[in-house]
Amino acid sequence: MILQAENLTKSFGGLRAVGGVSFTLEAREILGIAGPNGSGKSTLFNILTGIPFGPDSGRVVFEGNEIQSVAPEALSRSGIARTFQRESIFPSLSAVDNVLVSVEHSGRRGSDRENEAAAIAALDAVGFPQTLHNAPTATLPIFFRKTLMMASALAMSPRVLLLDEPASSLTPGEIEHMKALILKLREAGISILLIEHVLPLLMTVCDRLVVLDQGKVIAQGLPTEVVADPKVVEAYLGQAAK
Ligand SMILES: Nc1ncnc2c1ncn2[C@@H]1O[C@H](COP(=O)(O)OP(=O)(O)OP(=O)(O)O)[C@@H](O)[C@H]1O
Ligand SMILES: [Mg+2]
Repeated sequence: MILQAENLTKSFGGLRAVGGVSFTLEAREILGIAGPNGSGKSTLFNILTGIPFGPDSGRVVFEGNEIQSVAPEALSRSGIARTFQRESIFPSLSAVDNVLVSVEHSGRRGSDRENEAAAIAALDAVGFPQTLHNAPTATLPIFFRKTLMMASALAMSPRVLLLDEPASSLTPGEIEHMKALILKLREAGISILLIEHVLPLLMTVCDRLVVLDQGKVIAQGLPTEVVADPKVVEAYLGQAAK
């Protein structure tokens, strides 16, 4: 086991966005986090990484160490990195310069040439086209903005990578590329937590699924078992009916 969440909670005023969530992530596993809109998925990522805030209570154990109180920057240097559901690129910077910002915060800062080589290696790892390395990122198509965010996360050399809806707003063809990329990152030895609310996508890439509804885990296990669970069907149908 590389990561363990134990009884995590986070409230906003009277709203319990995450209410006692526990799960484990095995080394080299892809664990899917599913659930309808507003079920607490992104908040779970926030409190796991401390970006932008930690949990109200509960424990997070990463490689045997409790990390729920570790400052976010120290945490990302220690091997956990995330992407955001909303875009978090610097639009006025080129792709290489975006990733360089991460390299320079990775705790592995070298010479300018070494840093640039590390940024380019991260872009290569996500298949980002060389022709776009120096293009302004504001005008990039969404697929490349998403892979750029992944490259910035990879520049931190994470052993655990948290991806928040990497496939949302992509075309079916782009989703296939994104799936292949996620599987490739796992092959490279990275353990992955993957948020998506599209169940069919999760079913094809995840080893196990955790399903949240109203901040609580309503099912977890093998994807085929989880999607057949009446509680999961009901949570998703409830959303469709809204
Ligand atoms: N910073 C915040 N302040 C107040 N309420 C918040 C904050 N972040 C999230 N919430 C609320 O917490 C609940 C869970 O939100 P969260 O973004 O974690 O859901 P989600 O499962 O990621 O949803 P989606 O699928 O739409 O991305 C929602 O009711 C949301 O409005
Ligand atoms: Mg979300």
